[in-house]
Amino acid sequence: MKVLVTGANGQLGKEILLMLQASGEDVIGVTRDDIDFSKPDEVAKKIAKHKADWVINCAAYTQVDKAEEEKELAFLVNRDSAKAVAEGVSKYGGRLLHVSTDFIFDGTQSHPYSENNIANPLGVYGQSKWEGEQAVCAVLPSAVILRTAWVYGMHGNNFVKTMLRLAAEREELRVVDDQIGTPSWTKDIASTILMLIKKNASGIYNFTNEGVASWYDFATAIIEEATQLGLPCKTKSIHPITSEDYPTPAKRPHFSVLSKKKIRNMLDEPVRNWREGLVMMMKEIKECADF
Ligand SMILES: NC(=O)c1ccc[n+]([C@@H]2O[C@H](COP(=O)([O-])OP(=O)(O)OC[C@H]3O[C@@H](n4cnc5c(N)ncnc54)[C@H](OP(=O)(O)O)[C@@H]3O)[C@@H](O)[C@H]2O)c1
Repeated sequence: MKVLVTGANGQLGKEILLMLQASGEDVIGVTRDDIDFSKPDEVAKKIAKHKADWVINCAAYTQVDKAEEEKELAFLVNRDSAKAVAEGVSKYGGRLLHVSTDFIFDGTQSHPYSENNIANPLGVYGQSKWEGEQAVCAVLPSAVILRTAWVYGMHGNNFVKTMLRLAAEREELRVVDDQIGTPSWTKDIASTILMLIKKNASGIYNFTNEGVASWYDFATAIIEEATQLGLPCKTKSIHPITSEDYPTPAKRPHFSVLSKKKIRNMLDEPVRNWREGLVMMMKEIKECADF
């Protein structure tokens, strides 16, 4: 099986690429230098050229706040180029798995969002991803849409790395406590994506790690684990604050926990709790001095 991974320098794309390479699959990773998603007109042809059995689309404009001012670019990458990827794949009859986000929801629900709940994004990033999903499904109804959330891993930038950097410098941290979601480890997301491909799935699936947390809970866990592992940490106290105390250009959902009821039936093993995933990732960080 030949697999093409876009966004191959990103957090998730790189994890998937390495996992496929380790298992000896025929895999190609493409980056911004190979296919520029800000130029959707060029994307379909460049995707089709590879004739991969599966394309995993991890390329995305992911800067949630900056998207509020770079609206046009966010839509070019997340909607128009996602559609162009689907067009490229449909040209030769391949399969597509497209990655999407919990930020398509407005967070007003108080129980986990299922695949069928109505999207109502609060910001440009979420809206561009939601329109991207719809465009992909219109072109390729057999596509898989994998929605995930609060992604962190060894590659690229993320909340864990930011907290570790701050912990090495500051005695006190202030972290938002009124946004609830599920931190999700790229290794667990990647292996779930590969499972969906192997099972030749179609349709929309949610996947995150198990459990719920606020950013404050997540930060507290990171500091506790950093201390336990002997990573550099000056932080003595973490203060919970509200979203109002920490205004950002983009509004974020207060509650974006995704239900895993549908995907659980497909998985051979129980979904790992977010805290266990965090411990495993932080042990990897400890082994690799350069983070
Ligand atoms: N991060 C999260 O918390 C989160 C949560 C839910 C869902 N997701 C979704 O998960 C997927 C993977 O996200 P991630 O966390 O791995 O994000 P990421 O680390 O930001 O990776 C995104 C990749 O897309 C590439 N990209 C951006 N603009 C591009 C362009 N114009 N042309 C070509 N490539 C471009 C980036 O290239 P460069 O490396 O060159 O910048 C990067 O490699 C995305 O669909 C995202 O929406 C992420």
